[in-house]
Amino acid sequence: MVLSHFEQAGFAIVMIKFEHVGLRYGIGPEVLSDINFTLEQGSFHFLCGPSGAGKTSLMSLLYLGRRPTRGTIQAFGKNTNVLPREELGLLRQGIGVIFQDFRLLPHLSAFENVALPLRINGFDEKKIKLHVEELLDWVGLGDCMHRLPPTMSGGQQQRIAIARAVIANPKLLLADEPTGNLDDEIGMKLMGLFEQLNKMGTTIVIATHSLQILDRLPHPRLILEGGNLQVFDPALGREDLSGRDTPSFSSEKAGGVVHV
Ligand SMILES: Nc1ncnc2c1ncn2[C@@H]1O[C@H](COP(=O)(O)OP(=O)(O)O)[C@@H](O)[C@H]1O
Ligand SMILES: [Mg+2]
Repeated sequence: MVLSHFEQAGFAIVMIKFEHVGLRYGIGPEVLSDINFTLEQGSFHFLCGPSGAGKTSLMSLLYLGRRPTRGTIQAFGKNTNVLPREELGLLRQGIGVIFQDFRLLPHLSAFENVALPLRINGFDEKKIKLHVEELLDWVGLGDCMHRLPPTMSGGQQQRIAIARAVIANPKLLLADEPTGNLDDEIGMKLMGLFEQLNKMGTTIVIATHSLQILDRLPHPRLILEGGNLQVFDPALGREDLSGRDTPSFSSEKAGGVVHV
């Protein structure tokens, strides 16, 4: 990996920045209020909070699938508030998402669902076959890759969704409770895949309830409660709301911005 001058100098590259972001559905109450945080390139965060806290809503903002009702979201150096739809679509190509409800195309086989991002990126058929078969084998679906998702179990569908999200090597990987339907062993194996991707440079956010995962992996946590977001870093052993003092491109203490 070639490091930029900023990286060589120890500066972190900001991938995503939320400033005073709020979200409401229709005329309902704000589900998210005044959310401030920064995701640096190569970071790994868990997104936690009780059911209904707004984890999936925050994910939809991170995925640029929904615009906030107030505040600013910057993604890959661009202010997404003012970007037209088509440009948002282009930015989204750098983001892999594992939706809580999978969102697989029911009329396409597992293989074809996973192949989609590679087809969009213009890969040739030989490479597509090689990559898709290898990944589906790895997630334990080698024997049923030509079946249609509706004929498969929840755990199998979840693994198709995971394979589809990671196959094109996204810059940012978002996973909304990705191990929810999986047994502990395969859940931890998949966490190993996420760790591996992160070591190769992918920025990762995983929404999870799993204490088994949170206890084993010491990544910082974005905690949603009552519409607000706080950051807890187990490595620091305390709530870190003020920001670290490391030199950083994104280091910001004023205005209640939480530096992650
Ligand atoms: N499409 C929607 N329309 C209206 N309200 C929604 C919608 N999606 C989520 N909500 C509401 O937003 C709140 C947060 O939901 P969600 O983001 O799904 O939380 P979580 O993923 O943490 O369980 C809940 O009160 C939920 O009912
Ligand atoms: Mg959810």
